Amino acid sequence: MFNKPIVAEDLEKRVSAKLIAKRVVVFQTLGSTNDFAKRLAQNGEGCGTLILTNEQTEGHGRQGRRWYAPANAGLWFSIILEPTQPTDMFGLVSLLAAVALAKTIERITFLSPALKWPNDVLINSKKVSGILLESQFSNNRSASLVLGIGINVNQKQTDFPEEIRQTATSLRAQTKHAIDRVSLLIDFLHNLEYFYLKFNDGNFGLIIDAWKERCPFLGKDISLQQNKDEIIGRFENLDEYGRMALRLQNGQMKYLSAGEPNFIQRGEQCYS
Ligand code: BTN
Repeated sequence: MFNKPIVAEDLEKRVSAKLIAKRVVVFQTLGSTNDFAKRLAQNGEGCGTLILTNEQTEGHGRQGRRWYAPANAGLWFSIILEPTQPTDMFGLVSLLAAVALAKTIERITFLSPALKWPNDVLINSKKVSGILLESQFSNNRSASLVLGIGINVNQKQTDFPEEIRQTATSLRAQTKHAIDRVSLLIDFLHNLEYFYLKFNDGNFGLIIDAWKERCPFLGKDISLQQNKDEIIGRFENLDEYGRMALRLQNGQMKYLSAGEPNFIQRGEQCYS
């Protein structure tokens, strides 16, 4: 019953988030919702459009990774936004999306997701969702954002390809029951719009505090690959731009806006 394709009318009838999803476009199969959304945004179109596909064949993630998105098993979508804040604050949008999703997962499944910088949502140390935020300048140079989100909903643990079976999970695999994707998405859009309005109002502290509350890695030692160098330090805080404030071994503070941290426990990497 929960593996039926989503159709636009199902969403349009129920969506309350009228700013971020004033228009809904649904595909059965698409290469990548982010690529489609970027093309719309480039022509200055589509602000407040939600693009969702039931199956995504060329989904991609951060650092050029592939995103596995089988038919009717998860939520694969992108939203075009035109924030009113300056572009140097845009990084906070992926943090607020992670917070909004964590709240939805908490409400619907009673699980307690953890947030991993910069924008992964984990359950029991496995990744249940990834966020890819891309900025796009239209032909008239106005800036928009494409917020791409993948949520693993109804896959069984054994459905994941072998190379990610140990590190990825789905809500179904964690709760042992299937979940209605439309209800999950409607709840998420409601939370996302709430935090997005706070962002546009300049209420950045609320977003950062809500993110930090759900991050068990603050204060922990990490290693991070930057170009060819490995940086080691303590994840001390998030700054007002959502950057990681990393205390280096020489005592200096380094602010990072991208990277893939590995958390270190008793000299061992617990996961990446
Ligand atoms: C990551 O964890 O690296 C981010 C993964 C983002 C995947 C989503 S699925 C919908 C949207 N379209 C894409 O091609 N990617 C994002």
